[in-house]
Amino acid sequence: MRIGVLTAGGDCPGLNAVIRSVVHRALTGHGDEVIGFEDGFKGLLEGRFRKLDLDAVSGILARGGTILGSSRLERNRLREACEKSKDLSKDYGIDVLIPIGGEGTLTAARMLADAGMPVVGVPKTIDNDISSTDRTFGFDTAVGVATEAIDRLKTTAESHQRVMVVEVMGRHAGWIALESGMAGGAHGICLPERPFDVDDLVTMVEERFSRGKKFAVVCVAEGAHPAEETMDYKKGAIDQFGHERFSGIGNHLAIELEKRLGKEARPVILGHVQRGGTPTAYDRVLATRFGWHAVEAAHRGDFGRMTALRGTDITMVPLAEAVTELKTVPDWRMDEAESVF
Ligand code: F6P
Repeated sequence: MRIGVLTAGGDCPGLNAVIRSVVHRALTGHGDEVIGFEDGFKGLLEGRFRKLDLDAVSGILARGGTILGSSRLERNRLREACEKSKDLSKDYGIDVLIPIGGEGTLTAARMLADAGMPVVGVPKTIDNDISSTDRTFGFDTAVGVATEAIDRLKTTAESHQRVMVVEVMGRHAGWIALESGMAGGAHGICLPERPFDVDDLVTMVEERFSRGKKFAVVCVAEGAHPAEETMDYKKGAIDQFGHERFSGIGNHLAIELEKRLGKEARPVILGHVQRGGTPTAYDRVLATRFGWHAVEAAHRGDFGRMTALRGTDITMVPLAEAVTELKTVPDWRMDEAESVF
């Protein structure tokens, strides 16, 4: 079997662990050949690929990013390729494609599958917002980075009697904010799922200071929005990939808190630090298991599906099911978090 693999969308710690696992299982378990398309679907459409042997994936398990490169692609370019082709897998010289990516990539994978290409998806994203899988690799690493940042910010905040507003990633789902906020013991958490009232944060900070506490940390997801008419904040425009351009809720919130509290408030935007660097042990294991199961699925002819974690087992779920809606934070998870603010 000739397997094509690619990584698309935003990078994520653990991508290299999947590639390595796919190559090992395919070559040593099945005697397959594996090629890696460069820079995501762009490499597929432009015929840019290289052969992946055991040497090519040696030493990459703990490396962040992706050795294949990644990119975002306008959906229309892929749609046109699907419409033009009679036999996509023949065009690309492969028996199966394993695209590793988030919601956008899996939607594109579904499009290719619907057009007749044998596809086995592997979900990734630090945001943990893909339905049908309990976890995506990358998330554990991002939560670890954000938690460490909150821990560190607490000591400097306390020394200077400041409010720290830590902005973490999460466009539509606030999983990173929720879990790093809980693990770091933030005093306020703002999620895209639940518009926040800045007055509640003001009350929380005043109450802390009245108890003799000299600092506060608020963890805010980049996609969080204030409740209507509670604070001046405009939603951003939509870019060519359908993503909202954020105008920096962390900065806005820090300015607003400083104004309302009369205390110093500083924003800290963690940004791509959460996505870079070495994956945690948990993410390396999950990524390796996904890679192994993707190759097995390919050999069973289990196409149009993706690997998923359910409990402690890896299963296969239809791509159609995985991309219909994002997995957002349910209210009860926020209720649990709030009880320890
Ligand atoms: O989807 C993963 C993610 O890291 C989001 O949390 C974030 O908003 C986005 O990617 C950033 O993408 P880019 O690196 O293209 O700006």
